[in-house]
Amino acid sequence: MALQQPTLAAAPGAWPLLGHTTALLRRPLEFLESLPAHGKIVRIRAGGTDILVVCDLALTQQLLREDHIFDKGGKQFERAREIVGNGLFTCPHDAHIKQRRLLQPAFRRSLLSGYAQTMAEEATRTATSWQEGKPVDIPAHMQIYTTQVAVRTLFGTDSPPPERLDDIHTVLAGMFRRMLSPTWLNQLPTPGNRHYSQARTRLHDAIARIITDRQDRDTGIQDLLSSILATQDDGSAHHSAPPLTFTTEEVFDQVLTLLIGGADTAANTIAWALHLLAEHPDVEDRLHTEVDHVLQGRPPTLDDLPNLPLTGQVLSETLRLYPPGWFLTRQTTKPCQLGSTSLPAGTVLAFSPYLIHHMPEHFPQPHRFDPNRWAQPNNSAAPQSPNSAFLPFGGGRRKCIGDIFGLTEATIALATITTHWTLRHMPGTHPHTNVRFIIAPHNLHMHPTGRRFEPKTSSHLVSLR
Ligand code: HEM
Repeated sequence: MALQQPTLAAAPGAWPLLGHTTALLRRPLEFLESLPAHGKIVRIRAGGTDILVVCDLALTQQLLREDHIFDKGGKQFERAREIVGNGLFTCPHDAHIKQRRLLQPAFRRSLLSGYAQTMAEEATRTATSWQEGKPVDIPAHMQIYTTQVAVRTLFGTDSPPPERLDDIHTVLAGMFRRMLSPTWLNQLPTPGNRHYSQARTRLHDAIARIITDRQDRDTGIQDLLSSILATQDDGSAHHSAPPLTFTTEEVFDQVLTLLIGGADTAANTIAWALHLLAEHPDVEDRLHTEVDHVLQGRPPTLDDLPNLPLTGQVLSETLRLYPPGWFLTRQTTKPCQLGSTSLPAGTVLAFSPYLIHHMPEHFPQPHRFDPNRWAQPNNSAAPQSPNSAFLPFGGGRRKCIGDIFGLTEATIALATITTHWTLRHMPGTHPHTNVRFIIAPHNLHMHPTGRRFEPKTSSHLVSLR
């Protein structure tokens, strides 16, 4: 039965049958930024569905806060569920409370310093594998780095075979294409659909093997998987609740969710940060001073991070300009109000951290790279300025569970790489934005020039800030 949709402005430029799918595939960010001119909630049509795009901060915050009404849904999550089942990222509100309670301990701070050590080892391994003047495909190297970190912290095993890395990327790219395509097109035996299904099956098999292996023997390894497998929530805090544990199938979905969710997001954030630093040598110079002063040429530890405020500011500004999760959908579970608009049950909505981050009322001169937006007035290493319009990790109860993990991973990589190298774009190449499930830099090949650690006095450091 067709939904009774409220009368809301529709975005211009819809094609017959395809609606706005072409605009979303060809020039998604520009298209998105054109929407607020038509209203606070704007109707678009993509993948055969009407989607109401929320173009306002207060309405986005309401949608994130009321997660029982604006639940995970729409084609984005249907496609994601084909891969990660009903893991934490995709599961509906009813299942989410239990899953989040069970998974949260895997991200506790006491485990983070061990993870940070793995991150520093992998970042050093990556940075020291580069050679003076030999071009580096930055996004590819960062994806290897974050996947190695994910695999080691999740499974306590070493590198996955390289073809599994390709499988993760095939699956992610396929998810976006399938989300915007009609279902019948996704079922055709095209080479693209076959490639996607084979990658998905191989990835599933590889992870199932690792989990079964670990369930069969206690390795004593302290990693995310052991933490998930050991999770026994006896429900004592909620006397009416039955004991909670993950089923084997749920463990599988969580592992795949964390592997896929954690790898590309953080990798592209680091890649964008390196691109932005090369475009802003003044900031890069200050960053070199900071890492040299704090690290004195050694790999970073978790305890160093509060002493690297500029590194954190560069990453915040990178996440503001290029939030990997740029377009996220929800579906209403019952008739409701969003602001003053009445919506029937089953309405598909989308919100966009990218759109909010590029609104001049929240971030003046929004396209400008300016890490100083995040600086504390006294240059202290206090947590970065809160800004409720900063949503790279979403918000409310569905906020990213890996936010601290991902930021730690990105900070450690950025500090390690800039300790070793100055990176410049290869002459004649210019990266462009590749927007699919996440926003990635395409064609980002950089030229490394070795740096030697140069001790500087603390007064020099202060004067440079
Ligand atoms: C820079 C790095 C990252 C960014 C920008 C990012 C972004 C996001 C965003 C925007 C969401 C909310 C999605 C929504 O509301 O629909 C999310 C959720 C999630 N992320 Fe991340 N993420 C990052 C790193 C990670 C890492 C490292 C992991 C795992 C190790 C991870 C696992 C998850 C999971 C499981 C969820 C679902 C949380 C829930 O619904 O309770 N993410 N992430």
